Amino acid sequence: MINVTKTFLPPKEEYEDLLDRIWKSSWLTNRGELVKRLERDLKEYLAVEDLLCVNNGTIALQLPIRAMDLSGEIVTTPFSYVATTSSIVWEHCTPVFADIEADNLTIDPSAVEAAVTDRTSAILATHVFGNPCDVDALQDIAKSRGLKLIYDAAHCFGVTYRGESLLRWGDASTLSFHATKLFHTGEGGAVVCNDPELSEKVYFAHNFGHDGPEKFRGLGINAKMSELQAAMGLAILPHMDRILDDRRRVTESYDELLNFEAFAKPSIRDDTGWNYAYYPVIFERPADLEQCIGRLNEQDIFPRRYFYPSLDSLPYVSTTVDLAVSRRIAENILCLPLFTDLGEDAQETICNTLNG
Ligand SMILES: Cc1ncc(COP(=O)(O)O)c(C=O)c1O
Repeated sequence: MINVTKTFLPPKEEYEDLLDRIWKSSWLTNRGELVKRLERDLKEYLAVEDLLCVNNGTIALQLPIRAMDLSGEIVTTPFSYVATTSSIVWEHCTPVFADIEADNLTIDPSAVEAAVTDRTSAILATHVFGNPCDVDALQDIAKSRGLKLIYDAAHCFGVTYRGESLLRWGDASTLSFHATKLFHTGEGGAVVCNDPELSEKVYFAHNFGHDGPEKFRGLGINAKMSELQAAMGLAILPHMDRILDDRRRVTESYDELLNFEAFAKPSIRDDTGWNYAYYPVIFERPADLEQCIGRLNEQDIFPRRYFYPSLDSLPYVSTTVDLAVSRRIAENILCLPLFTDLGEDAQETICNTLNG
């Protein structure tokens, strides 16, 4: 069976070496040695000054929304994973959707501009599939309208834009280290803040507000990463070059083997150092996509409809604007299997099926 992704696991003995340290210290959580080491190594690997590990990529979104004290409306993309919208609603704010660009699939700045009202407190945009948003335009809108800017960078591990970490844009960016991601800790995530004051608030909020054992600084929650999660991250990090090389090889094979007659590829913004996080193809009609899924499933191959449905159709949100691009893309997009050891034969089967 071939799924859309297969979790990369490091050599078991390398994970066990790290587990030995946990067995020696009997220290499993509460910001132990391994979490601190992972944060240090990730800051270096990702070339960012600030990074806090947390226990998943959804709480990573909720923390800055809460720490920034956002209220009212947050302008956001309808084309993302459900967590982008649900974290806004969970934090008692209202998501206001702005449509996406048809080629890059990221939020359209002119639609963002049109969606801002005097109730808007922030923009929450997703770098979809690791493809950077139009960060300059969004920064201009946020600055001129006095809004906070958060990037859902769940797919952006290691992505650079104009030679710098993509995580350097916005007030904060969030990462997911879920097992389906190219770097993972089983479950996990991180918040990267570009404002020391915000970073401090997020830090205290992620650990119940604890400021030492007996003092509290504001309201907090338990968003701490455990030592077991950090050990997985530390065991995977030295293999990132290989992971990225393998994913590039698989991506280039798709580019070569697919005929792009009945489907197209979204574009990646110029000046992006991409991470080959996903391989999406966009069909012309949902019927073609469904037929293709059926033929792949018959061969035990299971691609995924990332992202479907368009988030404005969730049962707990509403929209007054037309989100035609997001709806069309969500109905027609399919992510093909992409993981380090996807075999050549399997890839040929996938491509022959798609090419029809
Ligand atoms: C765009 C996006 N945002 C947020 C999340 C949530 O991350 P997690 O599953 O780590 O909570 C995910 C993925 O799972 C995602 O794809």
